[in-house]
Amino acid sequence: MRSVLLFALVSYAACITCPTGFTAVNDQKCLRVFANKLKHLEAETDCSYLGGTLVTIKTAIDNRGVATLAANAGASQVWIGMFCYATGNSTTCYHDDNSGTLTYKSFAAGNPQIDGNGGCVYMSTASKTSGQWFSAPCQVIGMPFVCEVPPTISDPICKRNYNGYCYMPSHELKTDTVNTDFQTAQGICQSFGGNLASIHSKPEIDYVKAIYRSSGVTRLRLGAQAFLPDTFDWVDGSNFDFDYTDPLATSSGDCLLMDLSSRVDNGLWSEVSCSDNEYFLCKRKLEGPTVASTSAPVSTVAATNAMGSTIAAVNPKFQRALPHRQELLDFSNCNTTLYMAPGVITSFGYPNTKPPVTYCTWNLATLGPYRIGVYFTDFSVYNPVYVYDENGNLIRSGAYNLNPFSVLGTSNIVTVTHDSRYDAAYDYHGFSATILPF
Ligand SMILES: *[C@@H]1O[C@H](CO)[C@@H](O)[C@H](O)[C@H]1NC(C)=O
Ligand SMILES: *[C@@H]1O[C@H](CO)[C@@H](O)[C@H](O)[C@H]1NC(C)=O
Repeated sequence: MRSVLLFALVSYAACITCPTGFTAVNDQKCLRVFANKLKHLEAETDCSYLGGTLVTIKTAIDNRGVATLAANAGASQVWIGMFCYATGNSTTCYHDDNSGTLTYKSFAAGNPQIDGNGGCVYMSTASKTSGQWFSAPCQVIGMPFVCEVPPTISDPICKRNYNGYCYMPSHELKTDTVNTDFQTAQGICQSFGGNLASIHSKPEIDYVKAIYRSSGVTRLRLGAQAFLPDTFDWVDGSNFDFDYTDPLATSSGDCLLMDLSSRVDNGLWSEVSCSDNEYFLCKRKLEGPTVASTSAPVSTVAATNAMGSTIAAVNPKFQRALPHRQELLDFSNCNTTLYMAPGVITSFGYPNTKPPVTYCTWNLATLGPYRIGVYFTDFSVYNPVYVYDENGNLIRSGAYNLNPFSVLGTSNIVTVTHDSRYDAAYDYHGFSATILPF
């Protein structure tokens, strides 16, 4: 009786499969140590090419597992996947995988210590401090790092295997038709056992970008079709639970295209006609034991800001149903301690055409793996709006009536300020900006 039970436990525990190059740790996580020394954002970028982030640690068992793995690879310090926004207060530390604030912590005394250090965190594996976490300046210090990707299902014939799916770009398929219209592309994908690809998280965006990195393809058709204007469904039947639509896109159409051009914030989506010929990506579900749901990459759609309210899952571009001219309601997020992307900020009182007089600061942030983009979709101010990087250096200022424009942060934090004292007096109506990670 006892041996049967033991056997059942062992075979259950041994069920996760990791992509090539990754090691299963605690039969739960797929991890890989990179021994080269990189600055934090460079390390995150390397992980993102594999569809992952720096490792997220949520239990003492995982913490020991990561320490052992890193120590065995000869690394005495490794970047880990979290970012802290305030000194001495680990309630402001967020996991890279969008699962929110920490439930388990292993900070050394006096940490996190942001001032003079920065919000990035590394783990020591040196004997006296093994498993302890320390703050370090993100853009100054280079060190080895540990990447984490979701477990998957093994499939010997699949070349691009990620998170339980096989990704098949049209230019790698055994077909003569590499760019075509939506219906033909979907038919080809079905003949290979899949569908045109749906996308459900920022790590998945990054994985798809990496597939096309040196392909020369700059536009990619996705498997989405509009059933109402600006309202899309995925053709594979999955939920439209993540939206990465370009807030500044002006095109319209009943299909979606992913931008793979050389712009820094590529990967964003815009509308195109379904009948245009485009390169496409097929995605086939792999058969096998279910992937542990706790390890799936979490979508970057719903983030919780520091005030504890959850931001809706739909791209703010499509959430224009603001109450009109109701004097007492304010959706500006003016003076929020920490506002996490994705979301929308506006000038105080917007869209009231007579902006109240006040001074506002917006402290905007996104998770540690990403940089933050501020996409001004409507802009009309007398005194300038200023956008600063996390060290207080001015990135950009703008005034008067401007066409929509974006300001891309140099890290995951920016501060925006505006003094609205002359806006109403000189007939300016304020601004609205969508905040996204890129
Ligand atoms: C830590 O930050 C949280 C949220 O910002 C706040 O509620 C709490 O009082 C802070 N704790 C300390 C010790 O500063
Ligand atoms: C925002 O904070 C500034 C500086 O503390 C203050 O002067 C201003 O009144 C605040 N604005 C609003 C709308 O609360």
